[in-house]
Amino acid sequence: MKIFENMREWQTARAEFAQNLRVGFVPTMGALHDGHLSLVDRSRAENNVTVVSIFVNPTQFNSADDLKSYPRHVSRDVELLQERGVDYVLLPHESEMYEDRFQYQVIENSESKILCGAFRPGHFEGVLTVVMKLLQLAQADQCYMGEKDYQQFRLVQTMARAFFMKTEIVGCPIVREKTGLAMSSRNERLSTFGRVQAAKLFEVLSTARDTSTARRELESLGFRVDYVEEHWGRRFAAVWLEGVRLIDNVKCAEVAQ
Ligand code: PAJ
Repeated sequence: MKIFENMREWQTARAEFAQNLRVGFVPTMGALHDGHLSLVDRSRAENNVTVVSIFVNPTQFNSADDLKSYPRHVSRDVELLQERGVDYVLLPHESEMYEDRFQYQVIENSESKILCGAFRPGHFEGVLTVVMKLLQLAQADQCYMGEKDYQQFRLVQTMARAFFMKTEIVGCPIVREKTGLAMSSRNERLSTFGRVQAAKLFEVLSTARDTSTARRELESLGFRVDYVEEHWGRRFAAVWLEGVRLIDNVKCAEVAQ
């Protein structure tokens, strides 16, 4: 496995790949768990070469505290990726990724304004801008993204199409703990009790009769609710527990009747 920290050097190496290699790409912010690794496995199964990036992107965080407390375990992550048979890991530095000081940004004016976009102003501008940069760097045939962040997946997919990018954006199912809790790097910040409580988010989303019932049930369980809403045939929620923001979604067709 080769690791690149300098993106100009990576671009030179990337340009030397044989033309007929299929390249799969998995962008991440690290603190890797089985959700991330499911994307890596899918990429490995469907491509000749798998590239993974780890970059905690400052422009998509709304609060300095959230950015500071975001879990970082780069050396453990690199070991996991090596064990998983990844070919290339990109570890870009902020100074190189934002040499332009965020002068250029990707702005989306419709679907990024609802759900998480309504509660995290500027978040999707940060996400789309960094993913645009990462897709340009990876030059992949396929980029694998989790449906855990369904709004993000959908926006990236639409962006790639809108800008005639060569990469196909592939959505992958949500990986959950046995309790139903969607795996997330931020779960590390929950207490043992918090993790038990957090699993109820999935339970309520999958069983409540409608979104207002789900909101009431979540509030009575002690969650602070940002939203419970249905779009694109899915039921989405974002809640707060122990100062940690959790998101999840289920297909409406899979809600117990
Ligand atoms: P991060 O939160 O590290 O997630 C990286 C990828 O892993 C995303 O596509 C996310 O949807 C997927 N993922 C996370 N948890 C998952 C789970 N439980 N099941 C399936 N997939 C899961 O999302 C980001 O990083 C960033 O916004 C990024 C796209 C890298 C841009 O900075």
